[in-house]
Amino acid sequence: EGLPRFRNYPPVDFTVPAERAAYPASMARLRAAMGKQVPLFINGKDVTTDDTLDSYNPADPGEILGTVCQAGVAEVDAAVEAAREAYFAWRDVPPEERAQALLKAAAYLKANVHDLAALQVLEVGKQWDQAQADVGEAIDFLEYYAREMIRLGKPRRMGRAPGEMSHLFYQGKGVAAVIAPWNFPMAISVGMVSAAIVCGNPVVYKPAGSSSCVGRALVDMWKAAGLPDGVFNYCPGRGSVMGDHLVDHPDVALIAFTGSMEVGLRIQERAAVAQPGQQHCKRVIAEMGGKNATIIDDDADLDEAVLGVLYSAFGFQGQKCSACSRVIVLDAVYDRFVGRLTQAAKSIKLGPAENPANYMGPVVDKAAQENVLRYVKIAEEEGRVLVKRSVSDDVKATGGCYVPLTIVENITKEHRIAQEEVFGPVLAVMRAKDMDEAIDIANSTRFALTGAVYSRSPHHLEQVYRDFRVGNLYLNKHSVGALVERHAFGGFKMSGVGSKSGGPDYLLQFMDPRLVCENT
Ligand code: NAD
Ligand code: ALA
Repeated sequence: EGLPRFRNYPPVDFTVPAERAAYPASMARLRAAMGKQVPLFINGKDVTTDDTLDSYNPADPGEILGTVCQAGVAEVDAAVEAAREAYFAWRDVPPEERAQALLKAAAYLKANVHDLAALQVLEVGKQWDQAQADVGEAIDFLEYYAREMIRLGKPRRMGRAPGEMSHLFYQGKGVAAVIAPWNFPMAISVGMVSAAIVCGNPVVYKPAGSSSCVGRALVDMWKAAGLPDGVFNYCPGRGSVMGDHLVDHPDVALIAFTGSMEVGLRIQERAAVAQPGQQHCKRVIAEMGGKNATIIDDDADLDEAVLGVLYSAFGFQGQKCSACSRVIVLDAVYDRFVGRLTQAAKSIKLGPAENPANYMGPVVDKAAQENVLRYVKIAEEEGRVLVKRSVSDDVKATGGCYVPLTIVENITKEHRIAQEEVFGPVLAVMRAKDMDEAIDIANSTRFALTGAVYSRSPHHLEQVYRDFRVGNLYLNKHSVGALVERHAFGGFKMSGVGSKSGGPDYLLQFMDPRLVCENT
């Protein structure tokens, strides 16, 4: 109540000298302090384990950010127990007070934005501006969900029958397991965790292995917000060792997952099985992969379209669920567009994200590098290579996790490279004779996450609005970088369960509705 209207955190402005200077200073601060053991955080206390995993800089794998303790089954049990014990008290904290905790957490992120963004540059190889946008999105989630909880926290009178007072209201479901990806290491983690917490659900949070140091920053954030012990538990671990145990745990009521289709489907299947002692149906909120297309109409503004496709396909090395991995070009403009896209892709700089002159850097780790290289080979076999650019030999010599920026043409919808998510900088160019065929190709995968269309034709814009069926469609705009509220984000089909993070329906998934009717 009395809060100013929600506004998105502003993007970084590197024309401001202080903003430019902040990053090297943050990098130096981080480097002086990093490389230590990173403990778990359970029931308000640090917990160490013998099993550890090094998180390294993908541009220089010899540089270790932290030696991260890994939860096994015993630590998962302890974290779930701590969350279960915290549940009844936290559930009944008034919604406005829970919202205040999110606002304090947002204040902490604002005060530490440069250090937190610099940590992403080093840990996952994200470019400066995009790393800051990720922290900005985390701030947005906190600010937005705080306001949403205040809105939903008021009991709503239902109907107006004389002699009856009927109220609808919500309560937290129970212990929430939050399982996060590495690619938006702060935003997506903070989004899922804060939604669960503000709705009254204590959290066991499992970050992805390659972004566990960013994940640990959430501990400091929630400490600054003054959360009671047990409400937030940081529990990094190997998915293969503790993932199933966490998902199967009978005391987990809710699982918020963002990641690949394979893991998302496995979680949904396992969560459907009631375990001995389980008291509730588990809710799974799963946001998964994409195979996103951008359509280039024959009257498109090609200056805009080339920049938009370049950014969507190769920004953060194509490692966004929203990334463009198929560009579908109408016949009439094919040669002009593809020629210009190819020239543009040949002109951008490749190298470590730490140097802001570089447009594209390393992929997140060695496993991702191997996976993308496998798909580059498939792309070469299925199509005709237009661009295959690697970093220079001296950059390669650093041993960073680099893969070539790859564009292939002559791809049709039956090809693997047109159907499978690569999660790297590999772009398939596909030709369509007209808009009907372009839409048919665009809709021809099992995913439905994002899409974009560049067109000046009102008729075609109306047609794609109706028939290009994805969760987030952008007209004359690139397909990445959704903003909280303005671009509530999420897909359907195999891209997810139809949930919209940063949107007005999101929190409802984290609560059970109750209705009390009094005969007055
Ligand atoms: P991933 O599926 O490999 O891992 C996601 C998380 O699941 C990690 O924390 C991982 O350790 C954990 N995990 C692995 N096995 C598990 C198991 N058996 N049980 C429980 N947890 C397990 O995905 P990733 O590589 O971290 O992220 C990339 C994927 O995420 C891409 O497919 C991308 O499209 C998707 N993604 C989707 C969205 C969206 O909003 N739809 C956003 C970002 C990323
Ligand atoms: N929300 C992220 C984007 O839109 C995934 O790029």
